Amino acid sequence: MDKLLITGGQRLSGEVKISGAKNAALPILCAGLLTSGTLELHNVPQLRDVNTILKIINETGVTCTRDKDCVFINGQGLNNPVASYELVKTMRASILTLGPLLARCGEAKVSLPGGCAIGARPVDQHIKGLQAMGAEINIDKGYVIAKTKGKKLVGTRICTDMVTVTGTENLMMAACLAEGETIIENAAREPEVIDLANCLISLGAKISGAGTDVIKIQGVEKLASSNYSVMPDRIETGTYLCAAAMTGGEILLSNTITWTLDSVIEKLSEMGCDIVSDVRNQSLRIKSPQKLKSVNLRTAPYPAFPTDMQAQCMALNCIADGVATIKETIFENRFMHAVELMRLGANIAIDGNIATVRGVENLTAAKVMATDLRASASLVIAALKAEGSTTIERIYHLDRGYENIEEKLTGLGAIVKRISD
Ligand code: EPZ
Repeated sequence: MDKLLITGGQRLSGEVKISGAKNAALPILCAGLLTSGTLELHNVPQLRDVNTILKIINETGVTCTRDKDCVFINGQGLNNPVASYELVKTMRASILTLGPLLARCGEAKVSLPGGCAIGARPVDQHIKGLQAMGAEINIDKGYVIAKTKGKKLVGTRICTDMVTVTGTENLMMAACLAEGETIIENAAREPEVIDLANCLISLGAKISGAGTDVIKIQGVEKLASSNYSVMPDRIETGTYLCAAAMTGGEILLSNTITWTLDSVIEKLSEMGCDIVSDVRNQSLRIKSPQKLKSVNLRTAPYPAFPTDMQAQCMALNCIADGVATIKETIFENRFMHAVELMRLGANIAIDGNIATVRGVENLTAAKVMATDLRASASLVIAALKAEGSTTIERIYHLDRGYENIEEKLTGLGAIVKRISD
């Protein structure tokens, strides 16, 4: 398994180009299953998770080809509406194939994703919504077996028990080919949901309200072809903002959008960073202070502070001036980076879903282990500051969501080396 060796103490400077958003690319690639036409996608990041979903889509008979950051999906050959356990177990978002396969083929067999490091991650809301649209769903030997019994799904009103991003996305995709109107209430408002809706509309879907908590979808007979570009990755953007802030650095982030990270930018400004956005040039510039101020965080659905930035900002609080409390309200086990940060000298106390972080003067290098995608990003950020050389093990977690991370960090002046076993 690959490791990263990071020597701390370098103040980051220069420019980093942000890649396409993983959490927009994954549902948008699944949208390619909905049409017999061709979906030509640009700005698709080269990530493990994207490779996994492409393998699953190819196994359905749909052809996917890739040329750097472009992906071409032709849905003509769909003949096997199945997503196998072997692939689904490596990437939970594979559940996003369920809605499109069921809507397009009238049947689908998708492995239950199972839990992951950060929580149980059930998919009961995905299933409840599809059943409300008339699907017959059974769980058999770890698979979701869904059928519409030769009929189309029927549009209806659905209100999810909690805000669920991929739940909203799955139901929105299924509703595109249903009979009549579907109204999704308590819908997720994340920018990635808007990006998916915009791509579906470009394919001919009739959707309104994406980005609000009520999304209306008028079913259509079939979808056509389209050429679409995936939005920039807001969590990658936030991660590099934190990397700069950790090192007292000043960097320019290009090819990004600024409106999707207001809650994160607000917190970094409270810590003492100066962040200027250039909407016309789609860039952000951050200047960081020598000493950050501690800031309290509470994660919640968009537009509140995103859970996917919690680990990265915990790392900043480890060396900030003061005491911070961090409340994680979305996932039940998303503090695994804390014990690894403590190995670097951080002072963190965990009580249920609340972490209390007391800032220390500095961190010291050690061997640490990545446990999940954003936890590994948190360890990278901490290692950029820690005195000495930190080894981060199991960085396959990192490769799931950060394209060319060592090249990008090296380009900003960090001392980073990948060691392949
Ligand atoms: C999406 O996961 C993201 N993944 C996650 O990003 C992100 O952390 C999460 O949304 C929250 O913003 C993708 O978009 C591919 P949820 P998702 O359904 O959709 C519970 C990353 O690091 N729930 O919004 O799986 C669930 O357990 C990843 O890039 C149910 O109980 O998250 C959680 O407590 C990690 N039943 C809460 O809702 C359901 O049927 C929110 O989960 C669905 C969800």
